[in-house]
Formats: sequence, structure tokens, C-alpha cells
Amino acid sequence: MTLEATLSALYPDHLKRLVAAYVAVLERHALDAVVLHGGTAQKRTLADDQYWPIRPTPHFQHWVPLAEPDAAVVVEASGRAWVARVAVTSFWEHPFEPEGRHWEASLAQRPLARWSDLAEQLPKGRLAFVGDDLAAAAELSIAQRNGAALVADLDALRVYKTPYEKACLREANRRAALGHQAVLDAFARGAESELDLHLAYLGATGQDDPETPYKNIVALGPHAATLHHVSYGRHRAPRGARPETLLLDAGSTCMGYCSDITRTFFRDARGASASVFAELLGGMEALQKTLCAEVRVGTPYEALHDRSHALLGELLARCGVVQSAERAVDEGVTRAFYPHGLGHSLGLQCHDVGCALLKPRGENPFLRNTSVIAPDQVFTIEPGLYFIESLLKPMREAAPSGLVDWQLVDALTPFGGIRIEDDVVVTDDPARPIDNLTRPFLPDGAKVLS
Ligand code: GLY
Ligand code: MN
Ligand code: MN
Repeated sequence: MTLEATLSALYPDHLKRLVAAYVAVLERHALDAVVLHGGTAQKRTLADDQYWPIRPTPHFQHWVPLAEPDAAVVVEASGRAWVARVAVTSFWEHPFEPEGRHWEASLAQRPLARWSDLAEQLPKGRLAFVGDDLAAAAELSIAQRNGAALVADLDALRVYKTPYEKACLREANRRAALGHQAVLDAFARGAESELDLHLAYLGATGQDDPETPYKNIVALGPHAATLHHVSYGRHRAPRGARPETLLLDAGSTCMGYCSDITRTFFRDARGASASVFAELLGGMEALQKTLCAEVRVGTPYEALHDRSHALLGELLARCGVVQSAERAVDEGVTRAFYPHGLGHSLGLQCHDVGCALLKPRGENPFLRNTSVIAPDQVFTIEPGLYFIESLLKPMREAAPSGLVDWQLVDALTPFGGIRIEDDVVVTDDPARPIDNLTRPFLPDGAKVLS
């Protein structure tokens, strides 16, 4: 079946669920309708006349895969939902064609000559607006803009994915895998710069920079220690001085739905520290797979995050980086080597918000998923291990405890770090608790190249 046929088959049910859920939210908030704004073209700078591509409001893309300015989905308390689109007459620029047409048979469209014409088409009564551009709400005389309680309720609807959304997320993984494979091939072939590798990724996925869910993280050697390394190096390494590690964290989109995938590659190098790094790489791959296998409905995600620290402590002890796994966890050492969260909810935003309603415990400040694991959630599992001097320095300078082998840490620092990230769907089948969206397309999370 083609993607279009699959999405055409699944979309009506997605729409039905969405309408029912929105009607309930509108009733709870005593609203007659909500206007979900797609977005307004933003100037790159006030000094010039160029505009950024639209990054659509996720609440809007929950309904339609449009990335164009001055469009809206209007949902009425009666259950009527429709799309308003301003006809584009500019001869300078034209927005992207819709990525799919599967929604058109189910959702009515009303063309507008200009945005302000929408006002007379809206139902009378209490209206709310959701979107970035508050001036667009003012043009419609809607006073309630991005009400926190309303937005929180709409965000909550995006936590549990419908079969349509899962199909989009799976396709976003398939597309990203083409890029990951192309970058791995290019890295294995020779000494490309980070920019070269980034461009190879875009070429292979057929998606331009603004369509990717986030700026590709392409990090060679020590740059892998910068968690979001996006200031790509332009230099190709001279022969014999090729960086040995590549951390690639890059995704794709399908109908606005994101994939978020990290792979770490290592060119086999000689020397004792290289063999420890290769051991750590293999250990992180096993650790990530263990965590995926331990996802269970009913477990707090934060418990899985804590478990990732216990496993990392064991790996560091096994490889001689620390003396004691337990002390490494208890004394915060694993948190210096692995400062980010185990993962986050994934959907129309790379960092979806609906699973982060509670604050994590103090020692997990960057954990973005504090929900209890439940069927139809989609989240990432992305443990990491890095050599980040600014985090290690305070520990190094504290009274020497003998806990960390600093000489070994120094020798490993040029390799930067490791992250392995898959996207998983939680199922309601205890025999198969997750559907890993990434591994069928990219079986290896880490790879040592010969
Ligand atoms: N790509 C950003 C993240 O993994 O959260
Ligand atoms: Mn992620
Ligand atoms: Mn990522």
C-alpha cells in the first residue's frame, strides 16, 4: 500500500477521535469554537524583506499537514470542523504544496481572500485562539489567546497517538534512516566535514533544513561532547588525522510528525584508549537495548531514567572509568557523564510537552518525561555518555576520592561522546510492550568501522 493509501484509510478515524476530544474540551472550557492558527510568515530581520519558512502550530497540524501562512482549523462546539485558507496571490513566493491530500475528503475547506475575512465566518459566542501570532487573533477580535488551561488540555490530546499518527511517525523514521545510512557511508568512505555530512543527510532524505524536526546534530570527534552541536565544522581533516567518532542526531518529518534518531559511529583506531572507547560504545548499545526491553505499562518513566544511571554506573565500572558503580550513581558522577534525560515524548514536536506535566526530581533537572508509561504513548529512549569538561571539572577539582580514573577520562575526551536514540510506541500487549519504530530501519545503534 502506498503511504497516501495508508493515510487515507486511517485519517477518518483520527479525525473522528479528534472531533470528539475537542468537543469535550470546548464544553469543559465553555467555548463555542477555537481557532487553531497555522502561523504567520516571520521576517528573518526587520531590516530586510525575507521571511523564515513557516513552522506550523502543532495544534493546527494535529488536524492537517499544511505548512502555509494564514491558514486555520476552526473547531466548533457542535462538532463541525473546517479549514480556512487564504488564497495566495503573491508572484514572489508560494508556500509548499500540502504534503498529502488524504484529509481533503473528510474536512471541509473555506477559501479566504484575506485573513480578516475569517471573522465573519466564525460562530457567535465565546471564541478562543491558539497560535503564535497574537496580532492574527486581534484581527479576528478574539480576546482569549493561548489560555494556559485550554492549551494544556489540547496538549494532553497529543500524548496518545492514533493509528494515523503512528503511521506518520513510522514513515518519519523510515525517511530519517535513508539519511543516517548515507551519512554512515560518507563517514566510512573518507574525511568529510560536518557540513558535508549534514548536506549528505538532507540529500538522502529529500527534506530541506526547515522541514527537518530540529537542526541536525552532526558532531565529529570532541564535538560529540556538545549535546546539540549544530555549528558545523567546514574543514575536512587531513589524511591520518581523521576524527574517529561521529555522533549523528537527525530526524525527518512526515505530515509534521517527527522522528528523532541518534547513532554513534567509531572508526577503529589503535591504542588503549580507543579500545576502551570501543568497549564503551558496545556497552552503550547493550544498555540502550536493555532499557527498551524494560519499558512496561504502569512504570514511571523517571524510574527507567534512574535505571539508566544504574546501568551506566555498571558500564563505567566494568571499563575502569570508575571504581564503584553504586558510588558513581550516589555521588552524582554518572550525572556529570550523562546530564540529559533518558528521553521525551515525541509527535508533532520533537520535544512534545504532554508527558512533562510534573517536575522531575532535583537530580534529574533535564528529564522531559515524568509520565507513567501507558499504551499509545510515543517517546524516545536515548541514553548518553559524554566527556564534557565543564561538568567534569568540578568533580575533578573536589577532594580526590579515587572514584574516577581521571587519566583514562583524559585519554577518552578526544572521542567526545556516545548517544543512541530510538523512537518507541508503547503497546497494550504485555508480550510485546513496545513497537520500536527505528530499529527495523537502522538495526545498529552504534557501529565500529574497520
Ligand atoms: N534531538 C534532540 C533530542 O534528542 O532530544
Ligand atoms: Mn530526543
Ligand atoms: Mn535526538
